Amino acid sequence: MTTARPTAVIILAAGEGTRMKSATPKVLHRIGGRTLLGHALAAARGSNAESVVVVVRHDRDRVAAHATEVDPAAIIADQDEVKGTGRAAECGLLVLPAGVSGTVLITSGDTPLLTAETIAALFDAHTTAASAVTVLTARVPDPSGYGRILRDEDDSVLGIVEHKDATDEQRAITEINSGIWAFDAAVLRAALEEVGTDNSQGEKYLTDVLAIARDGGHRVGAHLIDDLWQTEGVNDRVQLATLGRELNRRNNERWMREGVTIVDPATTWIDADVTIGRDATILPGTQLLGATSIGPDARIGPDTTLTDTEVGEGAEVKRTEANLAQIGAQATVGPYSYLRPGTVLGVKGKIGGFVETKNATIGDGAKVPHLTYAGDATIGEGANIGAGTIFANYDGVAKHHTTIGKHSFVGSDTVLIAPVDVADGAYVAAGSALTGDVEPGQIAVARGRQKNVDGWVARARAGTPTAEAAQAATDAGTRHTESPVDPTDTEQKA
Ligand code: UD1
Ligand code: CA
Repeated sequence: MTTARPTAVIILAAGEGTRMKSATPKVLHRIGGRTLLGHALAAARGSNAESVVVVVRHDRDRVAAHATEVDPAAIIADQDEVKGTGRAAECGLLVLPAGVSGTVLITSGDTPLLTAETIAALFDAHTTAASAVTVLTARVPDPSGYGRILRDEDDSVLGIVEHKDATDEQRAITEINSGIWAFDAAVLRAALEEVGTDNSQGEKYLTDVLAIARDGGHRVGAHLIDDLWQTEGVNDRVQLATLGRELNRRNNERWMREGVTIVDPATTWIDADVTIGRDATILPGTQLLGATSIGPDARIGPDTTLTDTEVGEGAEVKRTEANLAQIGAQATVGPYSYLRPGTVLGVKGKIGGFVETKNATIGDGAKVPHLTYAGDATIGEGANIGAGTIFANYDGVAKHHTTIGKHSFVGSDTVLIAPVDVADGAYVAAGSALTGDVEPGQIAVARGRQKNVDGWVARARAGTPTAEAAQAATDAGTRHTESPVDPTDTEQKA
């Protein structure tokens, strides 16, 4: 009879990680959009354990705060000045109810590829074999640095020797301790009391528990896994990048199996918390970060970075940077667009080339096609914003809002000096510098009137090729001589 779920997972995260050479504690370095500890917490929580404990010491407050931010139910355990993984486990046990029983799993804050499924499989192997100690092991091509698994002729596990304490013969062993364990809680507690610090590092080793339990007549075993990546820890930045790339390869593969086309997985980076709909296509050089979600049939990239951004079904986003933005279904964005926080683009809306938006709601079918800055704006459905329009939202002290109504039209090269309110069904003439509101059905023209001065070239630029061209054109009678009338200028028409 086995217990339905583990009593606890204790994540060891008290070490400094000196080889990272960083002001940031090792377990707070990131891959795939989560910290190393964040990955460990997700796997621990996913194993369905009753409690998840994080053992902290180095940069204690920072690590503890991060752990409870990621997993508010996580219990923080403080390790004291006694060093070693054994002491860390002991401190983890101390925050659980006294005399706690059942299976306690131990994992490491620096082993980010370990999955909840592997923790669950370890728990199953441990309980099925009715063992008191089960260590997760792997056979690796280069075992240096790891603790080695010692077995007898019958293959039963005898103990573990740390690399630094191992003989040359023991160092030739390629089966290693992953640092991931399942223990009977009572056996672990009792054995840890016997573990000393008589070793090359003067630390209390968790690995010593195995031989102590065995000598005490308990069943001990190893659960060997083939997937070496899951046992690999991050000790330096080279490993951080290596594991980051492998994690990404796995995430990409998972999405492809879910029905997403990823044209070039090697240059596509997808964070752990991203979601992608079926038949979406991700083009090369794309990063989908944070809590980004991509709708079905959307087409993203190439060369696009989306952070915490929502993309609707069938939308197309090319060569774009977006952060905290929402892009509606069937909308098109890019190329070379910059969507800053608070951008909301409606269904079938368009944000085109060299357009920057911020805190801007752009209605269904509305278009901001070229060379525009739209900040602090509401643009109604079906409106069209001409090329080179600037929403001048900042007066040097405060930000102001601009509203463009439904199906309204803003001519090219217009400055909308906020706050202004252009009603539904209104026009703003190209080249305007608009400072006042526009009512429904009106056209606003806010620029100097065109004035043509006859004969100016002949007088002021006599003898130039321009003057000769003017003379020739006049002689040929190809051009009229009166001033043209601006059709949008209501004063001139009147
Ligand atoms: C440990 C194992 C080794 C195994 C390897 C797998 C021991 C004695 N050795 O060695 O057999 O092959 O992991 O990666 O267990 N930690 C604490 N408090 C401490 C010391 C460590 O919380 O006092 C934490 C670290 O933050 C880390 C984990 O325990 O998350 C492993 O510690 P580390 O120093 O990396 O152990 P290794 O020497 O790699
Ligand atoms: Ca390690």
